[in-house]
Amino acid sequence: MILGVRGKMKNITCIEDLRQLARRKVPRAFFDYAEAGSYSEETLRANRTDIEKIKLRQRVLVNVATRDTSTTILGEKMSLPLALGPVAMTGLEHGNGEILACRAAHNAGIPFTMSTLSICSIEDVAAAVKKPFWFQLYVMKDRGFVRSLIERAAAAKCSALVLTVDLQVLGQRHIDIKNGLSVPPALKIKNLINMGTKPGWVFSVLSGKHWTFGNLHGHVKGMEDVKSLAQWVGSQFDESLNWKDVEWVRNIWPGKLVIKGILDVEDAKLAVKTGAAALVVSNHGGRQLDGAPSSISILPKVADAVGSEIEVMFDGGIRTGQDVLRALALGARSCLIGRAYIFGLGAAGEAGVAKAIDIIQKELDVSMALTGVKRINEIGRHILVQ
Ligand code: GLV
Repeated sequence: MILGVRGKMKNITCIEDLRQLARRKVPRAFFDYAEAGSYSEETLRANRTDIEKIKLRQRVLVNVATRDTSTTILGEKMSLPLALGPVAMTGLEHGNGEILACRAAHNAGIPFTMSTLSICSIEDVAAAVKKPFWFQLYVMKDRGFVRSLIERAAAAKCSALVLTVDLQVLGQRHIDIKNGLSVPPALKIKNLINMGTKPGWVFSVLSGKHWTFGNLHGHVKGMEDVKSLAQWVGSQFDESLNWKDVEWVRNIWPGKLVIKGILDVEDAKLAVKTGAAALVVSNHGGRQLDGAPSSISILPKVADAVGSEIEVMFDGGIRTGQDVLRALALGARSCLIGRAYIFGLGAAGEAGVAKAIDIIQKELDVSMALTGVKRINEIGRHILVQ
């Protein structure tokens, strides 16, 4: 870590600080890509405003001298009820971003999920880290290739397959079109001027393993130069994806399956029937169906309906440890973060991701104390103001 970064990190006290630093350090098109929601961003905003409406009950004079934020996720002991969720193009927020984020997660004792649309490949990350990570799958039309991706994840000893089910078509993010987002970054005058103001990013990305989608390079036609993510997703992703295909995936994947992108109780019940180990209540961070309800408003309904039959995870708007506490109180067993760690990565690479996790851990620990709970399994709706 260079001195300047260390100095700056000292004054970082919350995820918002990391966001502001990332905004200065990451070229506009990639920072905006991570931050954006789809269309009018109603759902993106609702994810935050609805979380903030949930009030925690302050309890006093409870002995909270020995606290513990550890828990189990998919049957494995973790230091926190938290995982790094899949984010496309992590390696363009910072060179080798997937490797750095995975290392930070493992050092903190939590899982890392690699996206199908990552920049480093499955094999790159597996060779650079010591523990297994989770792999997120998008199902493309070329089922032979999808099968080979699943097999590559199994060969790399990935410990869970996270099947994303809410992105057969891409919700439009206006800003990506306006910015001319492309992979690899297009070397147009406007972009070059912007990149010229981000030397740390240029250096890190130039020394990264790839500048395009590492898992797909050499396997999928046309991805060497993706000018419009929406067009590319439209040509490659399988719009016919349905519940029968989950069965197909399950027959190929030997390990634990997580179904990500459930926002409806009926769908949650169908997810249970697939025999998946977990589901993630998610609206894809407000990036898909704009006008859909916030993720947190659906969480208690799903948890009540299926929480005893399947591990319920949650994502959508988590920026603090207090937010993790709220989601757990409403029935989630663990939470995924996306932007919160991507801001850390853009701000300061591996140290920034470690900082993001540390901030959330400390906030969770203090907030548990102030609500009078000492262990994760003591958290329930009783800690919320009804
Ligand atoms: C892809 O997962 C995206 O939300 O852009």
